[in-house]
Amino acid sequence: MDWGMENRLARIIKPGSHRTVMLAADHGYFLGPTRKLEDPGSTLRPLIPYADALMVTRGVVRSSLDPQMDIPIVLRVSGGVSIVGPALSDEGLANSVKDAVRINATAMALSIFVGTAHERQTLLNLAELVDQGTEHGIPVLAVTAVGKELEKRDARYLGLACRMAAEIGANFVKTYYCDDFSKVVESCPVPIVMAGGPKLETDMDAFELVHAAISEGASGVDMGRNIWQSEFPVAKIRAVRAIVHEGANPKEANQVFEEAKAGMKS
Ligand code: R5P
Repeated sequence: MDWGMENRLARIIKPGSHRTVMLAADHGYFLGPTRKLEDPGSTLRPLIPYADALMVTRGVVRSSLDPQMDIPIVLRVSGGVSIVGPALSDEGLANSVKDAVRINATAMALSIFVGTAHERQTLLNLAELVDQGTEHGIPVLAVTAVGKELEKRDARYLGLACRMAAEIGANFVKTYYCDDFSKVVESCPVPIVMAGGPKLETDMDAFELVHAAISEGASGVDMGRNIWQSEFPVAKIRAVRAIVHEGANPKEANQVFEEAKAGMKS
């Protein structure tokens, strides 16, 4: 692997633990003003010290983030669809690699929609992005998106989508947790990070989800709503970090969460 590519990947997936806590906040690219992300700058600012990378669009980078901050940007570069449009899978490349370089992106992220009418288009988008990313030494994160079809989140489908993403050349893959998640990880030759999904009912549910994914081989998480829609987002991300980087179990993570909450109140 080229030095630049390896160096960028190591800025995201930390060489010490071989894991990462990515903070996902790109939702607006198809969802508009998601709850708690109406003002991305003020939501993300206190969380940035605890994240290994930030997944956002160029619009949020330029409008809401301090250029002097020290955090790798995983730039969402696919788009062109909306939650009220005809097909979430009909994505194209919505950001040039030249502009990703200008932003100093550490990686670029794009969704693939395997099994949809736009499967070919989104897989060829990935191939094109990998070619351009390789030319510039910028890793590509493929997101195995399911759109509104949440029932697709099983090991057979996700295993297929992750493996295809890796075969096309993605440097790492983001997918959902599912039963038999370890099979998805084992059949994918590049690192997998787990997407969080909608906010879970309890904090403990989120800690259990992260712990299960890590125990079954995930290289980390790329989590959004379960962190920034929490009543205590800083405490929440600190607890997630404890699981991902320090091997905490859900109970220990909850203790980190409670202590961080108490520290904030005092
Ligand atoms: C998909 O890539 C989305 O844009 C989000 O980045 C992803 O769903 C992760 O965020 P959350 O943990 O809120 O699901």
